[in-house]
Parts: sequence; structure tokens; C-alpha cells
Amino acid sequence: MAERETPSAAVPVTRREPLRSRAWFGDGGKNGFIARHHLRAMGRGGHNFDGRPVIGICNTFSELTPCNGHLQILSDAVKRGVLQAGGFPLEFPAMSLGEPFLRPTSMLYRNLAAMEIEEQIRANPIDAVVLLTGCDKTTPAALMGAASAGVPAIVLTGGPMLNGRFKGRNVGSGTDIWRMTEELRAGTITQDEFTEFESSLNRSAGHCMTMGTASTMACLAEALGMMLPGGSGLPAVDARRGTLAEETGARAVALAGSDLTPRRIMTRAAFENAVRINAAIGGSTNAVVHLLALAGRLGVPLELDDFDRLGAELPLLIDLMPSGRFLMEEFAYAGGLPALVNDLQDALHRDTVTVTGLSLTANCQGAQVYDREVIRAFDNPVLPAGRGTAVVRGSLAPDGAVIKLSAAAPHLLDHTGPALVFDSIEEYLAVAEDPTLDVSAETVLIVRNTGPRGYPGMPEVGNLPLPKKLLDAGIRDMVRVSDARMSGTAFGTCVLHVAPEAAVGGPLAFVRTGDQVRLDVPGRRLDVLINETEMDLRRSAWQPPTPPVTRGWTYLYTEHVTQADTGADLDFLVGSTDSPPPRQAF
Ligand code: FES
Ligand code: MG
Repeated sequence: MAERETPSAAVPVTRREPLRSRAWFGDGGKNGFIARHHLRAMGRGGHNFDGRPVIGICNTFSELTPCNGHLQILSDAVKRGVLQAGGFPLEFPAMSLGEPFLRPTSMLYRNLAAMEIEEQIRANPIDAVVLLTGCDKTTPAALMGAASAGVPAIVLTGGPMLNGRFKGRNVGSGTDIWRMTEELRAGTITQDEFTEFESSLNRSAGHCMTMGTASTMACLAEALGMMLPGGSGLPAVDARRGTLAEETGARAVALAGSDLTPRRIMTRAAFENAVRINAAIGGSTNAVVHLLALAGRLGVPLELDDFDRLGAELPLLIDLMPSGRFLMEEFAYAGGLPALVNDLQDALHRDTVTVTGLSLTANCQGAQVYDREVIRAFDNPVLPAGRGTAVVRGSLAPDGAVIKLSAAAPHLLDHTGPALVFDSIEEYLAVAEDPTLDVSAETVLIVRNTGPRGYPGMPEVGNLPLPKKLLDAGIRDMVRVSDARMSGTAFGTCVLHVAPEAAVGGPLAFVRTGDQVRLDVPGRRLDVLINETEMDLRRSAWQPPTPPVTRGWTYLYTEHVTQADTGADLDFLVGSTDSPPPRQAF
């Protein structure tokens, strides 16, 4: 991307007349008057209502989402692009989801934000929408909302931060926080060093710059065809992101009223491309949950096992943390996603269509790799094929669980050991520092009631910190099993997303401390080694936990959330509806 202009985004599209916005602004009587005159109060004169496309700019800016704190600047650039192309931009705020602050977990609110974005698009005079996103959940939430609303949409993420720099070396979001925290606990660094590290990590606007969830979802939005080429990688503060924002605004004008809707772009073939690319970039396990939910909105048949099967076809080619050495800045300068796609084109579907009107592979045709250390050649991968996301099933996870192999210790991938079970994350953390804890390197650490319904919201706690006793013994990894997720920046031999979760009566609820648990990644199995009679006995004695909340959003969420293997969406949000202009009340 670095030395390359965005390929022409000017492929003509078929416009379906009339534009949605004409139902609001095109009427010569009272209703049109009412729609127009309030915009006139904002200084928008009559020429704005001459039939030009209205482009909604869905802005997830919030100071409570620092990763999206610069989106106002990009929004201004998008507006310039819209105006230059003859459109009428109208920006609106959308619920913003920030990882650093939202409790109990931002994931509890992904579906709420998606629902809000869907309804805002549908209820307003919008002909196409630019989705301004960045932090982890904002990209999938906006994509899900736009997918269900069915109005043409294009994504612009805020871009990754510049590299963190500490004591002369690159440090990465999340990844180095996990590392340094364990070093602090182990006493190998001081509190002062830890504080200095804190001020060295986040040096610019932007989202996490490792291949965590934000970068992964940005890359996958591009891979799905919903973003202009190269849009995922450019640093947030790179001036070319402003240019990209202008181009995005202009392209939204072209898309307005066309049949290049999210459903037409995000087909099964586009998802297959995204799943393969996720393997090649060493993407976050969270992408599994988000893509499954997004596919559910579009009626695209995508299954958990697709991530294992399709992903296993490609090696890990991008040498980025947490699986490798570099950060998004180097990825962008090495050519970014277009260069990777150009390398991968024989492994990708060519019959997709993207927001440019061309296929993903056509968009990226000829994009060069400028640094083969960062974007590896096929014959020199970071890891061979089959070391991405594996899906395991068995008596402990009948509907599946995932493990990110590139982040796991190879010697633990075929492992049997005694379970040490905790009913909540707090219960484990209360004893994690205890030097007398009955735990060894063989132990399989299990935390349950951390799933979509149980926690609720399926937080990123699956990369449980190691017991202090093991850290002191120099151990840095062990098998951990939960119904939670883990941060895309994290690493470790962590079996995640166990389905069904404990809180709905999945077998994870019945495992006890001392049971032998077997993780057999080559055989794709996760089993608790007890016989069926014993399992049935335990199941019949099980009482479902009392739902934690009886009103409001959390109640609605816990009543309707689906399991991780189908994306943890709300059951009544699955699917999409067309968005003709809604009826007028007067
Ligand atoms: Fe926002 Fe990582 S905290 S992207
Ligand atoms: Mg995260």
C-alpha cells in the first residue's frame, strides 16, 4: 500500500431509482417541507435537496473509546470526499464500544450497537453509509448492522497506532502488556519500569497495532470487500488515511442507491476469502465469533468448522505479534493486505465483488511486497499451513471450541492432565498468587460461567494468568479451557469458546477438579475422561445458575443470546430485512 495509490474506485454501478432519501426530501408538500426546513436550520440550503445522494456517516467516535478518538478528523475528510463527488453528507453518532473501559465486557454490547446502527440506517433518509470504526467491537457491530439494514455501506477504520517503542525495541498493544505483567509478577522487572512501559506503548491515535481483534477485523472488512484496498493497514496518523477517507466518501456517493449492497458483496465466497486470509495473517480468535454472527445476518452458511478446514489450507505468512515479531506499521509499509492478497490470489475466490465494483483479487492485482521479512513468501512462512485456528470437539465441547495454534506451545497440543476447576474468574484470581495452590505444569486450568449467557457477554478472560507458583518455576504456558474468549493480542495454549457453555448446561458445567482432561489437537478432540454414566449422574444433579439480571439490556441479552458456535448474536437479530423508506406518520 505504501507506495501505491488506491486502484480506481470508479467502476460504475447500477443505480436503482429512486433514492431512499427522496421519500423524505423529494416531496413538494408538508412532509418534504418538514424534512428539509430543519436541515436549513443547520445552513444546508436548497441545492442539497436536488436529488443528490444522502450519505450517512456512522461515527463511532467517543472519548470513552480512545482508539476511535480521532474519527472526527477522518469524518471531515469523508465529508470532503462526499461533497466533491456530488453527495450530501450527514454524520450521526453510533454507540461506541471501547475495550479499555466497558464493563463487564464490550462484547455484551456488540449486538446492541449492531441493532442501533441497523435501525438508524433504516429509519433515516440515508442512501449509502460510511461506517467509521476502529476498536475491536465497533467494526463487527457496524458490519452486522449494515448487513441487516441492506443499504449500501462502506467501512473506513481509524487505522492502527504507530509502533510502541520501549527501551529501543518495538512493543505491541496487548501482547507486551500480557508479557510485562507476567514479568512484573515474576519479579523480573520493577514497578518503575512497568510504568515507563505504560507511557511508551500508545504513542499516537489509532487502534491496537498488533494483529489483535481490531487489526484483524479491519483486515477482514477489507478481505470481505467492504473497504477500499489498503484501508486496513495504513497507520491512523498517516496522511494517506485522510486521502483514503476522501476516496471512501466519494465511493459512498457512487454506491448510493445501487445494488452493491452488503448482501451482494459479503457472499459465501467472500467469507471463504476472509477465513483464508484470517489464517494467513494469524488473525484473532474473535474473528470466528464475529464472522459467524455476520454471516448469520446475511443468511450465508458459515460454520465453525470452516475456520479449521479453510484456514488449514494456508500457512501463516504475516510475521506480526502476537504470533510473530512485527506490528501493523511494518505490515502497511511492506505492502499491507493488497500485497498479501496479490500473493495469495491462486488460493482465493476471484468471483467476488467489492465496494470498488471489482473483485478482491482484481483490486489487489500487482500489489507488491516491499519487505519479505514481514509478508513472507509461501516457501518461507512464519508457520506452516494448519497452525491457525483449530476447532476441537468432544465430551467437553460437543458443539466445538477453538484454539489458536500459532499462539500456543507446540508441546501442549497433545496433552492429558488433571483438571483444576473454578466456577468464576474471580474464584480463580483469588488463589492465583497462592504458593501452595495444588497445581503443576500438567494441570488443565478450567474456568467456567464465562460464556455469552453465563458471564454474561463472553469476556476476554480465556488467557488466564498463570498461577504464581508456576511462574516462579519458570513456566510460561499451560493448557487452559473456558467458555470465554481471549484478546486477539494474547497468546497461550487456551481452548476458548467452549460450546455449549456451562451456564446453559454444557458438559463444562460438570467437570470436576481431579478429572483427567485430554486435549488432542491433531485428533481435533477435547474430552473429559469420565464415563457416560458418571456424566449423566452429574448432569441430572445440575441446577442452572440464576440469571444475574432481571431487567434492561442485560436481561434481553441473556434471554436471547446464541452460543459461540453460531456467533453469540441475539436470536431475533439473525437475518436481515429490506429497507424501503418506512411509513410516514403524518
Ligand atoms: Fe481498542 Fe485495542 S483497545 S483496539
Ligand atoms: Mg480486545
